[in-house]
Amino acid sequence: MTNSETKATLSFSDGSPSLEMPIYKGSIGPDVIDIRKLYGSTGMFTYDPGFMSTAACNSSITYIDGDKGELLYRGYPIEQLAVNGGDFLETCYLLLNGELPNAEQKKEFVTTVTHHTMVHEQMQFFFRGFRRDAHPMSVLVGTVGALASFYHDSLDINDPHHREVSAIRLIAKMPTLVAMAYKYSIGQPFVYPRNDLSYSANFMHMMFSTPCEPYKTNEVLVRALDRILILHADHEQNASTSTVRLAGSSGANPFACIAAGIACLWGPAHGGANEAALSMLEEIGSVDNIPEFIAQVKDKNSGVKLMGFGHRVYKNYDPRAKLMRETCYEVLQELGLQDDPLFKLAMALEKIALEDEYFVSRKLYPNVDFYSGIVQRALGIPTALFTGIFALARTVGWIAQWKEMISDPEQKIGRPRQLFVGSAKRDVPAIDKR
Ligand code: CMC
Repeated sequence: MTNSETKATLSFSDGSPSLEMPIYKGSIGPDVIDIRKLYGSTGMFTYDPGFMSTAACNSSITYIDGDKGELLYRGYPIEQLAVNGGDFLETCYLLLNGELPNAEQKKEFVTTVTHHTMVHEQMQFFFRGFRRDAHPMSVLVGTVGALASFYHDSLDINDPHHREVSAIRLIAKMPTLVAMAYKYSIGQPFVYPRNDLSYSANFMHMMFSTPCEPYKTNEVLVRALDRILILHADHEQNASTSTVRLAGSSGANPFACIAAGIACLWGPAHGGANEAALSMLEEIGSVDNIPEFIAQVKDKNSGVKLMGFGHRVYKNYDPRAKLMRETCYEVLQELGLQDDPLFKLAMALEKIALEDEYFVSRKLYPNVDFYSGIVQRALGIPTALFTGIFALARTVGWIAQWKEMISDPEQKIGRPRQLFVGSAKRDVPAIDKR
């Protein structure tokens, strides 16, 4: 961490002596005040539910400027990576290693990932324990956690080689597990990976081919899926990534940590929003119903939110949402669905919301999930699997952040404190006195 001569002085109105705390500068973005000695010096904690003002770690992977609507992976703007960059595996290499691969490094990386795509044959029995109508996220939490029981040779978190092998295994096997979850839910046989296909084309093959009929890959659709994966690959210290880091801070193995991240991602305020946004559009049904829906959203007692809108960090247009809208358009064109009523409804809803005082004053803009559901539906991915695709994409971000944390000399077990507001010490009364 960059040290700095600048200090913050904290003074107290109760006459306690003031306290100096170091300020550290990042390479870009807000400075941080190091409050680690606060409790030892004053006996006080800071109070920050939801981590509104707390940097929990230092990181050099992903940077977001929420006011500008900017997202950088290792310094590269997401727009360049999604449009001019290579495929998803290049982004994976970048997030894991800090630099884009040259041609030789890329070839080697692709070969390594490709040769880890099969899962242990016995994994099938885990799937068979689930009901066919189980939510794919519950299947993924279970099966990704179960990977730890198959790969004992890569569980030593203190061994850099083990960490590397686990990272590759997770990135390589997630598409296989997500596709298996889908096949299981529709009662079709599992489809083995094909090493002659790209990462995204192979995923579509495992999703959509059957023993009776191979799946013909369509370049536009494969590129769209690849873009979805790139856009979701990392997003600095969001809820699921922080969950992975917290789970990993105790020394838990990487498969267990990623299973924890998947559990967190499942929630509708996080990864579940793409599924919720599509359901919302289906419920609204037509452009005529938008005003009534917007009125409900503004009524705080209704509990209705405009799903796919708003973000803790972006107070401007989410750059991923712009790219996703473009992709949405391309995919619908390719499939001859340019008049898709849900896409039209989404664009009308976006326009009305962006002009409405409620959304403008709160700086609520579309986020990545506003359009990703429409794209995924057009690709043939069922709604219940949307968050699973997000988990597939985010696995590389989670594992890159986990690796960074393990190698950080300042890393400690994560252990937040609390402001206790319950009963003070008291005696247990006899049952007849209660
Ligand atoms: N619809 C209506 N009102 C909203 C929305 C929304 N989608 N989002 C925020 N607000 C209001 C909120 O009620 C509050 O109003 P007020 O100041 O009057 O109380 C104000 O805007 C600030 O919101 P907040 O809840 O304090 O913001 P937050 O940073 O805690 O929450 C969020 C961020 C993403 C959880 C929230 O915007 C939300 O629930 N959005 C819908 C779900 C969604 O699309 N999530 C996907 C996020 S992007 C993908 C990912 O990272 O997983």
